Amino acid sequence: MKKILILTGGGDCPGLNAVIRGIAKRARKEKNWEVYGSIEAFNGVLNEPQEIVKLTSKRTAGIHVRGGTILKTTNKSNPIKFPITQPDGSVKFIDRSDELVEKLKKLDFDAVINIGGDGSQKISKVLYQKGIPVIGVPKTIDNDLSATDMTFGFQTAVQIATDSFDKLVTTAESHHRVMIMEVMGRDAGWIAAHTAIAGGAEICLIPEIPYHIHKLVERIQNRYVKGRGFVNIVIAEGAKPKEGTITSTAGEKGSEHVRLGGVAYQLSKQLKDAGCKAEIRETVLGHVQRGGTPSAFDRVLASVFGVKAFELVLEKNFGRMVALKNNQVVSVTLEEATREPNFVNPNSYLVQAAKGLGISFGD
Ligand code: F6P
Repeated sequence: MKKILILTGGGDCPGLNAVIRGIAKRARKEKNWEVYGSIEAFNGVLNEPQEIVKLTSKRTAGIHVRGGTILKTTNKSNPIKFPITQPDGSVKFIDRSDELVEKLKKLDFDAVINIGGDGSQKISKVLYQKGIPVIGVPKTIDNDLSATDMTFGFQTAVQIATDSFDKLVTTAESHHRVMIMEVMGRDAGWIAAHTAIAGGAEICLIPEIPYHIHKLVERIQNRYVKGRGFVNIVIAEGAKPKEGTITSTAGEKGSEHVRLGGVAYQLSKQLKDAGCKAEIRETVLGHVQRGGTPSAFDRVLASVFGVKAFELVLEKNFGRMVALKNNQVVSVTLEEATREPNFVNPNSYLVQAAKGLGISFGD
């Protein structure tokens, strides 16, 4: 029998389970493959005792409907920069990639499928260079990978954000308030821009277009007549003003990332300081955007990615990542997959259409 190992790394994302099921179902059709999963990304391989589970059909049946990942995940165990807490509480990062490669070789898998975002695919690339037969599958609600036209999880996040936004519109209108809703996306404004168009926001603030606070105050005042009116703002967690700064929360111990979140409160203060008279309320949507049932679109994209990933294994086409390009499921090299992030282009049809709809980006 041949053996394949699947793992999910980085933040979770709706659709991960659909990829796992897609790989497993396609592999079972071959009759000579066994499917295994490493628990909590590569920790399942690195830890002693190891945590590797056999993905039987019983384990994967019907999981495409479920959010999260049955294999668990972590964004604090990058094997190339593995965090080790020191006796004084500080954290030192060490490279455990050679240890991981040795352990993977000992386990004798014929292929490894790493489902993850940018950080995870950088790990895939290093493992491939060190002789592991790896295939990558892109995931992230942020949609910030340039090698694929879309990542699964993104559509679900936009739907959740839009549903929340719709609820804020009715309460903004009733109270003549300015509502600020903060969405995720790290340094990319995809979730924010899509939500702003879908929800009909007056203002959309994204990292790619720094905003002038006075332009926002002007836009808000124009919406009020004798103190009556309302404004709904979508702000991406990575958005920044042209003048002044916005501070992000420091990263958690063991995490390589600065933790974003809270710009809605900072924007609220900036607006008040700049003379905005309207009452303002803030909502930080947070992790609800990543939780729960994947949309039908994401289930399809994730399932298709899973099947394609296994087909690349059958072709022995390793060192590649599955991608969606012009409505075709293709594969790109891991080198290409990790080359550059995908940001919202301020001159794109998306931003131009939003502006055509009267949405201000504060530029
Ligand atoms: O990358 C996905 C994402 O959800 C970002 O949008 C967000 O900034 C980050 O992960 C949050 O990470 P954590 O789950 O560690 O708080």
